[in-house]
Amino acid sequence: MFITFEGIEGSGKTTQLKHATRFLNKINKPYIVTREPGGTDIGIQIRSILLNSKNKKIDAYAELLLYVADRVQHAKEVILPALSAGKLVLCDRYFDATTAYQGYARGLDVALIQKLHQLMLDNLTPDLTLLFDLPPKVGLSRAWKQINQKARSAAETRFEEEAITFHEKVRAGYLTLARADPKRFKIINAAPGENQVRGAIIKTLKKMLNL
Ligand code: TYD
Repeated sequence: MFITFEGIEGSGKTTQLKHATRFLNKINKPYIVTREPGGTDIGIQIRSILLNSKNKKIDAYAELLLYVADRVQHAKEVILPALSAGKLVLCDRYFDATTAYQGYARGLDVALIQKLHQLMLDNLTPDLTLLFDLPPKVGLSRAWKQINQKARSAAETRFEEEAITFHEKVRAGYLTLARADPKRFKIINAAPGENQVRGAIIKTLKKMLNL
């Protein structure tokens, strides 16, 4: 089973992913945790290009193709082998991030992005996508707090430095995707405190795993 965690910057998805792993440990469910960009050694190198705040002049198509390149390597090296071994795959961001960021926010053709996914990844689609939704103002202030407290790399802030309107478009893009596919998406209100959100995640996981 393939589960992805999506949301804008500072939505708390990475923290909640950790709570999900604690729950899976408790029930002895085999899983792996991975992320995009940067789920492989090659991906880590691609990630440093993508997130470096010095790379502001990157072309939107170059950006798109680097995310796809990262994903192709990631699917082949990590996701598909784990799924074949019967493990649950928990992935911090995946294809929906490309549609939301490069498509809806950056303005590239969403149909082209979907076509690339079909051609390059054989349309590999998660079974469940948890979308952590909250206003960008709240998310960005959380994200900058983490960066300033050095809990996150200060060199990887190219997206945090985008205007608030960009993040509004990312959020709206994610919500459009979620509404178009309510079977796969579960929208989680990420504004309340960590514990309340955790409760919602565990409940969803239990339902998904028929527990
Ligand atoms: P990361 O530091 O992992 O951020 P977060 O903790 O918020 O997930 O950085 C990933 C950044 O890359 C994030 O700003 C979103 C962006 N991104 C895209 O623009 N397209 C994509 O396809 C993916 C996977 C991420």
